[in-house]
Amino acid sequence: MTALQKSENLRLRKGKRAIAALTAYDYPTARLLDESGVDVLLVGDSLGMVVLGFPDTTHVTMDHMLHHIAAVARAKPQALIVGDLPIHSYDTVTEALDSARRLVAAGAEAVKLEGGIRQAEKVRAITSAGIPVMGHLGMLPQRVIEEGGYHKKGKTPAQTAAIREGAQALIDAGVFAIVFESIVPATARQLSQSLSVPTIGIGCGDHTCDGEIAVITDLLGSYPWFVPPFARPEGNEADATRHAASRYISRVQGSPAPTC
Ligand code: KIV
Repeated sequence: MTALQKSENLRLRKGKRAIAALTAYDYPTARLLDESGVDVLLVGDSLGMVVLGFPDTTHVTMDHMLHHIAAVARAKPQALIVGDLPIHSYDTVTEALDSARRLVAAGAEAVKLEGGIRQAEKVRAITSAGIPVMGHLGMLPQRVIEEGGYHKKGKTPAQTAAIREGAQALIDAGVFAIVFESIVPATARQLSQSLSVPTIGIGCGDHTCDGEIAVITDLLGSYPWFVPPFARPEGNEADATRHAASRYISRVQGSPAPTC
C-alpha cells in the first residue's frame, strides 16, 4: 500500500475504529509493534529525551531524525511511518518542504509538525508535493522553553477557540490527522466531535479523541526517571533490565577467574 493510501485509510477511520499509534525509534521495536498490529509508528522527536538523553526535544536535529527514521523503515512495517520534523527544520515554507522530502528519502511515509495557523502554508506546500502531513496542537513540546514548562491547554474559551482555528487551518491545508497533546478532556472531546479529520490524543484523557498515541518507553516502563502523569505503563522493562543485568553480573563475577 502506498503512503497516500495508508494515510487516507487512517483519515477515513474517523467515526469508525479508533487509531492506535505508538512511537518507535529503532528496528526491533518497530518490528515488534508492527507485528502487534499498531496503526501508526511515529518516529517522534521525543527520541531526544527518551533515547538520546537530552532534557527536552529542542536539541533534536535533522541528522538525529534521519538516523532513527531509517532504522524504523528497515522494519518495512505495514503501519504508517510518520517522521517528526525537528525544531527549526521548518522555519520557512522552503525549509519545511525540503526537510519533509529528506525525511521521506530516509523512509518516512508522512511527516508531523507542531502548530496551527502559522504552519498552514507549510503544510499546504508539503501535501501539494504528495507527502501526507499530521498536525500537532495543544501542548507543543518544541515550545517548552518559551512556555516555561508543560502546561495543559484548552482550559479557557479563548484557548479552545485558538486550537479550533489552528485545527481548521491545518485541515484546509490538507492534514490527514492531528495529534492533540495535553488538552483538557472536555475540550479534546468537543473539538474531536466537530473536526473532520481524526484527532489522536496524548494526555487528553480516555476516549476523548479518535485515537491515542503513547511514547513507547512510557508504555513499556523502560524510562523510569521521568514518567508523565498521564502515562499508563503496561510493562516494567526497567526492572526486567536491572534483574537480567544483575543475574548476568552475578553469574560472571560469581565464577572463579581462570588461573594462568
Ligand atoms: O515526539 C513525540 O513522541 C510526539 C508525541 C508525544 C505525539 O510528538
